[in-house]
Amino acid sequence: MEMTRYDNLSRADQFQGLPAPALEKAVAEDASFISLPQPAEISTPPIGLRSAIELRRSIRKYSVDPLTLQELAYLLWCTQGIVQQHEPYATFRNVPSAGGRHAFETYLLVNRVSGLDPGIYRYLAFSHRMMPVEIGPGAADKVMGACLGQAMVKDSAVAFIWSCVIYRMAWRYSERAYRLVHLDAGHVCQNLYLAAEQINCGACAIGAFDDELMARLLGINGVDEFVIYCATVGRKM
Ligand SMILES: Cc1cc2nc3c(=O)[nH]c(=O)nc-3n(C[C@H](O)[C@H](O)[C@H](O)COP(=O)(O)O)c2cc1C
Repeated sequence: MEMTRYDNLSRADQFQGLPAPALEKAVAEDASFISLPQPAEISTPPIGLRSAIELRRSIRKYSVDPLTLQELAYLLWCTQGIVQQHEPYATFRNVPSAGGRHAFETYLLVNRVSGLDPGIYRYLAFSHRMMPVEIGPGAADKVMGACLGQAMVKDSAVAFIWSCVIYRMAWRYSERAYRLVHLDAGHVCQNLYLAAEQINCGACAIGAFDDELMARLLGINGVDEFVIYCATVGRKM
């Protein structure tokens, strides 16, 4: 906290004229993609905001029923969906972010989503698509292990794993970025909780995970990009 006080900050790269980093991680040209239902086509049960807020609880036990691809697309849209692009400086999304910098990438452990093979995927917010990262049933055990053995990870229909590409925020805010990304993460997960409530699912935030194992699992170096927060989702029993 001391080193991220305004008195102790270095001059940010943006104000030294350095170019802005990409607002989404690059994707291999030969990657395969999974199109997601467009937000406008997704119908959701009506539920008042007040009910969603008051009914929300952290839920760790789920029914075995899968989520539909529409429901997953809705959760992705609510947590990271892009509403306006102001490249290269900012995007406006369904969640707020300091300076509109949105330093996160969303990885998913898919256990039970209709039409998707179990495995790890990444959400591409700019094109509202997903791409496979590692497909195979072994992924659930690995992610559960990295979440210190929390069974809800394997029992969930899907687990969200948010990573942070810190330079995206630090380019504008230097060391203060380390505070800001943790504040941003809270907004993302709260939207997940509320959107899950709307589609009769439960969610549970996860802050207890092994940073190094998580990074290794996702193939990231854990420094320039690190896992910041996770959450499980599944249909209520
Ligand atoms: C930052 C954060 C980290 C959390 N990490 C975990 C976790 O690793 N495992 C877990 O079972 N619950 C976790 N939770 C859920 C809390 O235990 C839960 O929010 C708390 O018990 C209050 O219950 P409620 O969410 O139903 O109001 C976390 C919640 C937050 C906000």
